[in-house]
Amino acid sequence: MANSPTGDSVTERLLRVLETFTPTRTVQTASQIGRRAGLPSSTAHRFIGELIETGLLERDEDHRIRVGMRLWELATRSSAALRLRQAAMPAMERVQARVGEHTQLAILEQGEALFLERLSSPDATSNITRIAGRLPLHASSSGLVLLAHAPAELQERILTGPLAALARATITEPAALRRKLAEIRRLGHAIAPGYIEDVATGLAVPVRDASGAVVAALSVVIARDAAVEAPLEALHRASRDIQGALQA
Ligand code: PHB
Repeated sequence: MANSPTGDSVTERLLRVLETFTPTRTVQTASQIGRRAGLPSSTAHRFIGELIETGLLERDEDHRIRVGMRLWELATRSSAALRLRQAAMPAMERVQARVGEHTQLAILEQGEALFLERLSSPDATSNITRIAGRLPLHASSSGLVLLAHAPAELQERILTGPLAALARATITEPAALRRKLAEIRRLGHAIAPGYIEDVATGLAVPVRDASGAVVAALSVVIARDAAVEAPLEALHRASRDIQGALQA
């Protein structure tokens, strides 16, 4: 891709612009995008204008800019995530109906848990996961399941730390994290009481494809003091159902 006067390729510049949008920052002005992407003002305005013309970004009535539906459409259409989400949806709905709490599907993406789907209920326990949001591997139930089955290289990198304390009970000692990962492999699920939020416990199971490889984690978030047996049973059953759906 041709380089700009500032030395970055168009692809790099596009990525920098898109990455200024986050789960909590979904609308911005062109100037804010330019500043956050490190682009000179005139370049930013011209480039953002081109992206709006192609539909990758959209401008609302107040002239604020958001990610365009065209980008969502193109990204979603043929992704592996879509197939996984479709295979998982019926089982996730059963878990959500049975447990009555938030139910999430996450995959391992560049050293973090990336959430593809979340089903909520109005009076469910507090939950900080968001669709297309990320959580650290060592501090969430989904992340721990994904890490326990990740390539050894990634496990060692995370185990080298630092392991940020996100709540009072987050595992921050590498030796304790190593023991936790072994426990998750032995039990077939992760229990994460207060690891990321003092008030909540995350429960997660691995989701496997037809070959038995772990491709995702399915989780529920319950109140810190709630019983774990029934939700875990629902998760294990759902995981088997999703594996079956992925085989079909
Ligand atoms: C978890 O998966 O451990 C988890 C996720 C989000 C929360 C609480 C716990 O809000």
